[in-house]
Amino acid sequence: MSAGSSGWLTGNVALVTGGGSGLGRAVVQRFLAEGASVTAYGIDTDQLSTLREQVGPDAQLLTIVGDVRSSADLEQAVARTTETFGRLDTLVANAGLWDFQRGLTRLTPQELEATFDEIFAVNVKGYLLAAAAAWRELVATRGSIVMTLSNASFYVNGGGPVYTASKHAALGLMRELAFELAPKVRVNGVACGGMRTDLRGPGALGLDQRSIEASFAKASPDRRPALPLHDSSNDPKDFTGPYVLLASREQSGPMTGHAISIDGGMGVRGFSSDAGGDDL
Ligand SMILES: NC(=O)c1ccc[n+]([C@@H]2O[C@H](COP(=O)([O-])OP(=O)(O)OC[C@H]3O[C@@H](n4cnc5c(N)ncnc54)[C@H](O)[C@@H]3O)[C@@H](O)[C@H]2O)c1
Repeated sequence: MSAGSSGWLTGNVALVTGGGSGLGRAVVQRFLAEGASVTAYGIDTDQLSTLREQVGPDAQLLTIVGDVRSSADLEQAVARTTETFGRLDTLVANAGLWDFQRGLTRLTPQELEATFDEIFAVNVKGYLLAAAAAWRELVATRGSIVMTLSNASFYVNGGGPVYTASKHAALGLMRELAFELAPKVRVNGVACGGMRTDLRGPGALGLDQRSIEASFAKASPDRRPALPLHDSSNDPKDFTGPYVLLASREQSGPMTGHAISIDGGMGVRGFSSDAGGDDL
């Protein structure tokens, strides 16, 4: 679908945190294709420049460099979005860090303190500050928030204790805000399984230059991060459908306080590929 043609999000204005790479970039591109105007917000200038080049000069795209740990940055992003596009209908809270499954017993107390502070500052505080910056505009449009959750919001072993706790916390945050902002603003989540993205780890562990993509390359065939139910290759673009659904008032208007799991079957068969269907 080309930008501006009638899609599920025609006339919708969205702000996507972590919009410069991975899942966030795929959501930005999908929303544009569905007719939305989009602000892609992220900490990495180069990623946002590349996105701009990829979608072309005519796309209804605003890119803003900022940090999700900063209320001032987020408030400015919301203000610039409404100045540019006139309104804000959807906040996609998405920017995140992983812990590369570093277990408690493999962390010194100092590493644990710093890892916790770094990951929770982005994965939990970053979502809350974004919601705080956006809620007034979302009330005005009867809009919604969509949070990127994870298999780690429900199950163990998709991260270490810090990441798993952060994604469980994000699930709780989604539910609490759905209660608090009802009935004017809907708040839902998308619980993704493993995707080939640029997902990084904390600088405190020297993992800020390593991406999850490397884990896919190294994973043994019987423990691939999220098995596709079809031949999706864990491409983040295959995970964007629920975001469109949840952002669309027409398609999910009565839905709030819920997470859609899109995890390649991880919830029913874990990380193992040892399932009867493989032989069918
Ligand atoms: N990749 C996976 O397997 C997987 C699985 C489940 C959930 N998720 C979740 O998906 C979301 C998106 O991650 P991704 O996998 O696309 O990785 P990604 O690294 O490609 O995307 C994350 C984006 O957030 C940005 N970012 C990081 N810190 C920031 C900050 N302080 N301020 C602003 N932007 C910041 C990064 O620059 C990047 O563009 C995260 O919440 C992640 O936890 C990922």
